[in-house]
Amino acid sequence: EESVVRRDRFSGGPARAFLSSLAADKRIFTADLAVDRAHVVMLTEQAIIDETDASEILTALEAIQTAGHSALPDGEDVHEAIETAVVERVGPAGGRMHTARSRNDEVAACLRYRLREDIIETLETVVGARATLLDTASEQTKTVMPGYTHLQPAQPTTVAHWLCSYEEALSRDTERLLGAYERLNRSPLGAAAFAGTPFDIDRKRTAELLGFNGLVENAMDAASARDFLVETTAAMAGLGTTLSGLAEDGILFANKGYLDLADEYASTSSIMPQKKNPDTLELVRGRVGDATAGLDGLLTTLKGLPRAYNRDLQRASHHAFDALDSVTDATAVAVGAISTATWQEQTLETAAGDGFSAATGVADLLAQAGVPFRTAHEIVARAGEQATGDTPDIETLETVTQTVLDSPLTAYVDTGELNHVLDPAGSVASRDSRGGPAPETVTTHLDRAMAVLDEH
Ligand code: ARG
Repeated sequence: EESVVRRDRFSGGPARAFLSSLAADKRIFTADLAVDRAHVVMLTEQAIIDETDASEILTALEAIQTAGHSALPDGEDVHEAIETAVVERVGPAGGRMHTARSRNDEVAACLRYRLREDIIETLETVVGARATLLDTASEQTKTVMPGYTHLQPAQPTTVAHWLCSYEEALSRDTERLLGAYERLNRSPLGAAAFAGTPFDIDRKRTAELLGFNGLVENAMDAASARDFLVETTAAMAGLGTTLSGLAEDGILFANKGYLDLADEYASTSSIMPQKKNPDTLELVRGRVGDATAGLDGLLTTLKGLPRAYNRDLQRASHHAFDALDSVTDATAVAVGAISTATWQEQTLETAAGDGFSAATGVADLLAQAGVPFRTAHEIVARAGEQATGDTPDIETLETVTQTVLDSPLTAYVDTGELNHVLDPAGSVASRDSRGGPAPETVTTHLDRAMAVLDEH
């Protein structure tokens, strides 16, 4: 049995395998059957094909679905192979299935249909991960830790504040995925090759049968557009970038002994028995490369394509699917690793005072006592230098505290208050502006974040 589609013109030569997307089309096999069904139902309702033919085609589609993608006959792609299989079962009347459509609108509909499912799955993973981060944060609102800028100790914060910073970024990644979903959830079906059809089709009906929330109106746009792939891949690259930061921090914190990864999220060395390596987080960091490379590959493929359909488009969709797969897995692993890690509270608290990290707090205190902030900044910088010399990182908090207490600063501020902000926990408690790390502030933030999460 040969393919029913243009068998006289179909390349049987060396380019045959090169042309075919059949293997990769496995991902849209079920989607294509759904699109076929919806199209056949609409054609029947519009009296374009009769009920007998329609019912035989629908029965054949059922059997083809049961037999699975691997049972399909050879073909240039899944659309052609399914049509061949229908004709094999139904006879020539099976060829009526392709009335008033083209593979161009068909493949676009299949991709949108399948991506919708994939994005929903990714959204579930991301929302679940955010819930886990918020839960973990709610247990760590008082766990003081050093906060960094330029990888240098900067100001004390808390583990909860750090966790919430990633949850909020993931919330925006969620919004971007939802935005991509909204725009890809429109039906291109009925555009045919790009120039519509003389048949009296009902595009809104196929859209409704397939659960699309509207149409890609212009037939030429409907057949050509792949910006839905760009948006999806970009959203995944953005999500991956957020996760890579989380992973990098986790790797750094494990390195400094701030956290201990659970065994199931760590690897050992094949030669060095003492090693416990953060390989899962390193792979999360590495996975982002897949998504950003995918985005680049996709944009490069699409750039400069003329209207309407061009076969280059066959090389576009895998980038979106790969990015979805790669980064969705990474989401679960990154958050799994972080949420099951054990935080070393004592080490964190000690480190939180390193590098005169209370300096900003002391300057704030002077400014609150009426000293212009720039002057306060200068005074504290001097005191810090006195205490620590050129290499502030190695000085202990006590030395610095003593220097500050011995200095003329005490003339401006109450010694009790000064001691309070020199203590990392006190410094954190004083930073209670909206979005800050003070435990009650973070607790309020957690309530707000939970409410946003519920909406998503
Ligand atoms: N396999 C093709 C793709 O993925 C389907 C569309 C083929 N259309 C065509 N005019 N050759 O893009």
